Amino acid sequence: MNVLEVRGATKTYDVGKTLVGAGRTLHALRGIDLAVRKGETLGLVGESGCGKSTLARLILGIEGPTSGNVTLAGKPVGGYGRLERAKLVQPVFQDPYSSLNPRMRIARIVAAPIEVRGIGTASSRRERVRAVMNAVGLPEHFTEVYPSQLSGGQRQRVAIARALVGEPEILVCDEPTSALDVSVQSQILNLLARLKRELGLTLILISHNLAVVHHLADRVAVMYLGRIVEHGPTEAIFGAPRHPYTAALLASVLSPRPGARLPEMRVGAEFPSPLAPPPGCAFHPRCPCAGEGCATIDPDETRDGPRGYRCHYPLAHA
Ligand SMILES: Nc1ncnc2c1ncn2[C@@H]1O[C@H](COP(=O)(O)OP(=O)(O)OP(=O)(O)O)[C@@H](O)[C@H]1O
Ligand SMILES: [Mg+2]
Repeated sequence: MNVLEVRGATKTYDVGKTLVGAGRTLHALRGIDLAVRKGETLGLVGESGCGKSTLARLILGIEGPTSGNVTLAGKPVGGYGRLERAKLVQPVFQDPYSSLNPRMRIARIVAAPIEVRGIGTASSRRERVRAVMNAVGLPEHFTEVYPSQLSGGQRQRVAIARALVGEPEILVCDEPTSALDVSVQSQILNLLARLKRELGLTLILISHNLAVVHHLADRVAVMYLGRIVEHGPTEAIFGAPRHPYTAALLASVLSPRPGARLPEMRVGAEFPSPLAPPPGCAFHPRCPCAGEGCATIDPDETRDGPRGYRCHYPLAHA
C-alpha cells in the first residue's frame, strides 16, 4: 500500500513584488509524481534549490500545492486536521538547536505531540516518553534537563523521540545530520536505520550527502529544478544512472570538495534559475549528452521496470 502519493504537484511562489513592479513567479516544484510504500525509505537528492524542502513541506502539510495532489493514507493532506495529520507524519529538521523550545524541559518537549492530542493519562504519557527516550538511546534522567544542556547529537535524538512519540507512519527527515559534527552524524544515521527496521517506519530522507542516502534509502528520487528526473531502487540508481544529471551528481562526490558543488560540466553553464526554467529539458544547458530536441521538447518519463527517468539521450550501461 502507498502511504504517500504525490500526483502532478506544482508549487510556485510570487517573489520580488514591489510597489511599482509586478512580481515574478518562482517555480519551486514543476510537476512531481511520487509514490511511497509503507516501511520504505525514499532518499531525495539534488542540488541546493531544486525543491527538496518545498516537497517536504507539502508532504508535511505545512503548505499546500499550487496544483496537483498530495495524499497521505489515501486522503488529501489538506483534508486532515492539524492533529490528525500529526498522527500520520512528523518532521525531523536539520537544526536541533532551533527546533527545540529552549524554555521547556525535555520531558515536555517529547510529550508535546501526544499531549496536544490528549492521548492517554499524564502517567501513561510519562511512560511513553520514557519508552521513546530509551528507543533513541537517551538516558531517562535527560527528561529533566533543558535543551541547552545537551549536545547537538543528543538534541537530534530528542527531536527524533518527539517525532516518534505519537507513533506516526511517516518521518520526513530534512538534512537530519548536516548540522551535526561528523563524529555524531553516523550515530544518528544508525539510529534512523534501526528505528526504521524495528518500527517499520516509512522514511523520507533528504540529504546532500549521497553516501548517507546510499546507506539508508531503499529507493532514490533525483530532483533537478523542481522535477524528479530519475528515480528507482538505490542500487540501480547509484550503480547504473541513466540520467546524465544523476551521473554528474554521483561524479561530484568524487570531486575534491565532496558534495560541495557539481563539477563544471560546460564552461559558463550555471545552475539555472527557478524564475525562468530552461525550455525543453531543464538540464540541457549543462548536459554533456544534450542533442536534438533537448532544448525544445520536455522529455516524458521513460519507465524501465521499477525505475524511471526523463531524458532523450539516457546513458547506456553494459
Ligand atoms: N517561501 C518561499 N518563497 C519564495 N521562494 C521560495 C520559498 N521557499 C522556497 N523558495 C524557493 O524555491 C526553490 C526551492 O527551494 P527549496 O528550499 O525547496 O530547495 P532545497 O532543494 O531544499 O535546497 P537546499 O538543498 O538548499 O535546502 C528555491 O529557489 C527557493 O529559493
Ligand atoms: Mg532544503
